[in-house]
Amino acid sequence: TLVPVIWIVAAYLLGSISFGILVSKLFGLPDPRTVGSGNPGATNVLRSGKKSAALITLLGDAFKGWFPVWLALQSGMLMWVVSGVALAVFIGHLYPLYHGFKGGKGVATALGVLLALSGWLGLAVLLTWLLVFAVSRYSSLAALAAAALAPVYAYALLPYRDYVFTTVVLALFLIWRHRSNIKKLLDGTESGFGKK
Ligand code: G3P
Repeated sequence: TLVPVIWIVAAYLLGSISFGILVSKLFGLPDPRTVGSGNPGATNVLRSGKKSAALITLLGDAFKGWFPVWLALQSGMLMWVVSGVALAVFIGHLYPLYHGFKGGKGVATALGVLLALSGWLGLAVLLTWLLVFAVSRYSSLAALAAAALAPVYAYALLPYRDYVFTTVVLALFLIWRHRSNIKKLLDGTESGFGKK
């Protein structure tokens, strides 16, 4: 029927809302796609020096990932529809309809999606990010480590191992979107948040 299609399209349209771009505009900051790494995400908004703008970007992009997945689960949608909603909101963030399909790398949105699928899964991924960031001071490295481990956590933590495949797809897309960061990390030119 039409219902799953409506859910998935609506999730994509919600994912297409880039908080990095909107919040920067609201705060009078430059479009994050034109400065720093060029990525419209919380990390790059933070490079503007405006911490509150970065925090709202992080919370907004995470919330938009969390909300539709949570709603689909609450509404008793079948697993494939929930997976479709999860991937659609994430893909919306990466390739947003309203921003010329030039979106972000999906870290905050994936975190929101995983938190909705399972609080423990989201928590494990978040703790991994925090730990790697605390040690390395690289947001991208923290995201790559968290993404690589997310399917492992999903396998270990999810009842009946549902949504493991969804988590693998999210992780692969996220790693793919970080290929410029991977190159910079290997070159030693990645911009970190070192303590001064
Ligand atoms: O949030 C994305 C992060 O992992 C990397 O962002 O701006 O350093 O490329 P950026």
